[in-house]
Amino acid sequence: MKNLVSINDLKKEEIIKIFETTDKIKRGGLKDSMKGKRLALFFEKPSTRTRTSFESGMLMLGGSPIYLDTKTMQSSRGETYYDTSKVLSLYTDIIAARMNRHGDLLEFAKASDVPVINALTELEHPCQALSDIYTIREKRRGLNGIKLSFVGDIATNTANSLLLASTKLGMEFSMVGPPSIKPNAEYLKKARSQGTVTISESLKAGLKDSDFVYTDTWVSMGEESIAAKKKKELSGYQVNKKAMACASKGASFMHCLPAHRGEEVTSEVIDGKSSIVWEQAKNKMYVEAGILVYLLNQTRR
Ligand code: CP
Ligand code: NVA
Repeated sequence: MKNLVSINDLKKEEIIKIFETTDKIKRGGLKDSMKGKRLALFFEKPSTRTRTSFESGMLMLGGSPIYLDTKTMQSSRGETYYDTSKVLSLYTDIIAARMNRHGDLLEFAKASDVPVINALTELEHPCQALSDIYTIREKRRGLNGIKLSFVGDIATNTANSLLLASTKLGMEFSMVGPPSIKPNAEYLKKARSQGTVTISESLKAGLKDSDFVYTDTWVSMGEESIAAKKKKELSGYQVNKKAMACASKGASFMHCLPAHRGEEVTSEVIDGKSSIVWEQAKNKMYVEAGILVYLLNQTRR
């Protein structure tokens, strides 16, 4: 049985296989591949895209999604993640979980008898990174040598998953952020063992020759109490027209969304010609469907 808790759970060949499966799904194939299958969505944090794209992806392939608002579940009253996961895996074939703490997801995944997918924790957002890189692959018809720059909170979940995934796939990853925010040391070491990573405080230096410029919110879910501090330390890292001009001519702007216009990105950039944020959001549905097919094909019950 295979889980997707971290990008580290997938080999390069497996990511390529997921992308090829996604290509088929995007062309209208594999329509009944989830027939008779149930997907539980165990979500402790809010979600617009990941929830809806997983649900739509599952329905598109003939399966049934079951959304679980954890506020109404016994886990909110102290039932352990172990017991919750054991029980959910009796009723469903695969589980996508968005959890407050990555450690809780590890406990949850350990107990499950069906594959568990990380639908975001504070440490990683692997489905997001995979669909973003799939979008880049579509734009460029290949990934080798492409430079992806992440601006802003270079220690956030999306940055961590993109760091691991991009270097695994032959891309160059540039992290651009303030000196007070350090990238995850373990992930950086892993990424450097498989590819090229640069870290810069300077937008001009970090964005030079970038093909894709990516940013995420300055205040992630769960960081509300340190919002003022984060906004202050990241205030010099807004992706605006001037920042985009530091990248290659024709570079695309990316954002996982939700965006905070006027903070990490200006409306001019996110609504501008270089922005590919809606294509990214749409691809989540196809890539997550590809992940479901791939993981269930690895699992014989
Ligand atoms: N990008 C993303 O994960 O968005 P949601 O929080 O709306 O799911
Ligand atoms: N870093 C953001 C990503 C949202 C999709 C957060 O965790 O809130």
